[in-house]
Amino acid sequence: MAKPNISIFASGRGSNFKAIIADQSLTCQLLVSDNPTAPVIEIAKKHHIPTFTFEPKQYADKASYEQAILAALKKYEIEWIFLAGYMRMIGPNLLNEYTGKIVNIHPSLLPAFPGKDAITRAYKARSEQTGVTIHYVDEGMDTGPIICQQPVPIHEQDTLETLQTRIQKTEHQLYPKVIKELINVKTLVE
Ligand code: GRF
Repeated sequence: MAKPNISIFASGRGSNFKAIIADQSLTCQLLVSDNPTAPVIEIAKKHHIPTFTFEPKQYADKASYEQAILAALKKYEIEWIFLAGYMRMIGPNLLNEYTGKIVNIHPSLLPAFPGKDAITRAYKARSEQTGVTIHYVDEGMDTGPIICQQPVPIHEQDTLETLQTRIQKTEHQLYPKVIKELINVKTLVE
């Protein structure tokens, strides 16, 4: 059975994107980014992955730029969308077209610490643990049904940086695994 085509949406650094494309069982057909200067675009170019980049301010509204995204997704026959540090809410255009096929990764144990700066807020709250959540995307901010969660401990001697590193490592292991399960791809290499 052919693998379904997937698109990754990212706005920044792209370490999750890198981890996903490093998995030999996965291929990404299209990177979508709302930030033309994001480092993630260079990673895609280096790996010859097509990109669709747009600047929201050049469109009248969210509906218009999401129409442009949809056209790109159709061109590459994309079936699943995985958000990896995409800093925008998904609007009804995309949600209706890709119902149950848009997934996000968030660096906390949702519903704790939704939204921006989740790691910093968990660190400052002196929680004993935080974690990583992978969830379906709905119209809310990190509110969609949870697919899987992995706790990450916060040690007393942690700095924000050591905690960030531990969370990122967890994300990079978890996201490719979950993507493969969702799209039913057999793991080629462990
Ligand atoms: C990750 O922590 C992810 O959970 C969050 O945004 C961050 C993206 O990091 N949604 P990167 O660009 O993949 O390095």
